[in-house]
Amino acid sequence: MNIAQIRAETPHCQDKIFINSAGASLMPQQVVNSIHRYLLEEEAHGGYKVADTNPTTIAQFYKEAAQLINAQTHNIAFAHDATDAYTKALSSIPFKIGDVIITSEDDYSSNQIQFLSLKERFGIVLKRIKTLENGDLDIANFQALVAEQKPILVAITHIPTNSGLIQDVKNIGKICEAEDVIFLVDACQSVGQMVVDVQQIKCDFLTTTGRKFLRGPRGTGFLYVSDKILNKGLKPLFIDGNGADWMTPFTFKVLADAKRFEHWERPYALMVGFTTALRYANELGMQNIQQRNQSLMQRFRANLAAIPAVTTFDKGSRTANILTFRKQDKSLERIQEVFDKNKIYHNVSTKNWGVIDYAKKGVDWTIRLSPHYFNTLAEMDEVASIIDRI
Ligand SMILES: Cc1ncc(COP(=O)(O)O)c(C=O)c1O
Repeated sequence: MNIAQIRAETPHCQDKIFINSAGASLMPQQVVNSIHRYLLEEEAHGGYKVADTNPTTIAQFYKEAAQLINAQTHNIAFAHDATDAYTKALSSIPFKIGDVIITSEDDYSSNQIQFLSLKERFGIVLKRIKTLENGDLDIANFQALVAEQKPILVAITHIPTNSGLIQDVKNIGKICEAEDVIFLVDACQSVGQMVVDVQQIKCDFLTTTGRKFLRGPRGTGFLYVSDKILNKGLKPLFIDGNGADWMTPFTFKVLADAKRFEHWERPYALMVGFTTALRYANELGMQNIQQRNQSLMQRFRANLAAIPAVTTFDKGSRTANILTFRKQDKSLERIQEVFDKNKIYHNVSTKNWGVIDYAKKGVDWTIRLSPHYFNTLAEMDEVASIIDRI
């Protein structure tokens, strides 16, 4: 990877240490320029005319998204964010009272809230897979839970928001396929930072967002829907006139492809920017991005491990580009003050984002750092040395 060129295309990574790609990353210049150009067209002609005259530009979004996750274009739906994709997927499942959802202790907070909301309104039963001592999913426990509970849905967050953990979605997917259970993967933090391949994961739905490791604009995301789900005729509960045609006063006909999960109104300029970001990732190559990310994190984790007063809150046998830490006797305010003075862009994760995880760890906040391939090894050294001096 040509890091010098990548950094030149991300000019604002030069005057700060930006390590918040798990929040909202820095967009490459090409992404911002493509949004500008499209908006200027809309300024001149109005949105409808521009969309009508640019069908291939918009079609490119589906091609790039599909290529990124090894899917086909008809399996991709644009979403306004990961949660939009997730709730549309959930709404398509015909839950009945007593149906079981199996998830993990580390699934994203909003997903957990949505399951609890389904439990409140529809009497869904929520089960969580046991976590092993090291933080990995207990696959044997999962297998037993599936056999015993016969779930309608298994929902797993690939990389949780706060712990560096990579959950074993491949093994979960294998079991779901064998047992014919719907498998929903929240890949919001993994798509863009590592190789994500829906053929390998064998999921039915996969959700992600544009602004994080994909380096796209805010207000974008996408949903992958498998052929199995499309062929079963599942559709979002509140489908609109884009996803279906109103045929007679009491009937409607659903689209054949995953676009049945989209709303008619979409932010076209942002879609174009998101397409540029997806192309950027595809051209760099996810394998290269993943390798670069691993080498950055190896250095960063080793640096922090060498500071005795620092506790990192990593868990699991495989870790990603999210690292949370605290420093003995140092308040959140003090660490943030030093980070702000040194222009270290970071995020704070609090216990409501991981109720079960934080209770186990016995803390109520951590600082979250999430480097990405445009960061440098020198930055990993500098941040560690600044933390050491706090
Ligand atoms: C693991 C995970 N899933 C889902 C989301 C929600 O993404 P969005 O805000 O795009 O809906 C986040 C956001 O931080 C996340 O970390």
